Amino acid sequence: TVYPDQHAASLAVAARIATLIRKKQAAGEPTVLGLATGVTPIQVYAELIRLHKEDGLSFKGVITFNLDEYYPMKPDAAQSYVTFMNENLFDHIDIDKSLVHIPNGTLPQDEVAAFCLEYERQIEELGGLDLQILGIGRTGHIGFNEPGSAPNSGTRLVTLDDLTRNDASRDFGGKENVPTKAITMGVGTIFKAREIILMAWSAKKAPIVRKAVEGEISGEVPATFLQLSDNVEFVLDADAASGL
Ligand code: GLP
Repeated sequence: TVYPDQHAASLAVAARIATLIRKKQAAGEPTVLGLATGVTPIQVYAELIRLHKEDGLSFKGVITFNLDEYYPMKPDAAQSYVTFMNENLFDHIDIDKSLVHIPNGTLPQDEVAAFCLEYERQIEELGGLDLQILGIGRTGHIGFNEPGSAPNSGTRLVTLDDLTRNDASRDFGGKENVPTKAITMGVGTIFKAREIILMAWSAKKAPIVRKAVEGEISGEVPATFLQLSDNVEFVLDADAASGL
């Protein structure tokens, strides 16, 4: 779906999330959301905060799982995805923070594999993700599933691509400060969500959006695996869609 601009697209995605939450609340069921970081979803989160403050949308009982976190990463560091989610969403809504899940960037390396299995188990125990929102990196990554990721990959520790670390260097005050690794949900984890919305804005994303939507399906561009799912929608602004 192509919207004239990022703002209109973000409002539409936020409205869909709000409708899902309200529908589930009316049925007495929790909503299980998969959330993303990066600049792409910021306006979606801003609109959800507005809906909470001005339109009575409650996040009580909403359960969230974030896609990824840098490794190693302290939760209270300025660049952590914990800080990002708190600042851009969680601190401004009535969500129960004990129902928020973000991969733990502080574990010793020999405990990471068990943590990742447990992350998968927790999602599965809740009946899976109702909705996963995604951005896309210029390498074609979703979450931090970099080129070389397998379609059935699960939550795991990965090595970040050079281009991804370049793109993150501004947040970290230099590429040398960007962690070389991250914990990410796998392509397979994302695939199990009942609904997936990938968002992309600006001409900067047009080449990778084109590859993701129209390119050959390949682990070299992990977002191309989304072509294999019936439950995926790309929500784009006109600039991001300009290469299609
Ligand atoms: C980041 C995140 C991804 C995100 C992507 C795009 O590194 N790990 O989940 O979708 O890169 O980021 P942005 O939205 O800032 O362009």
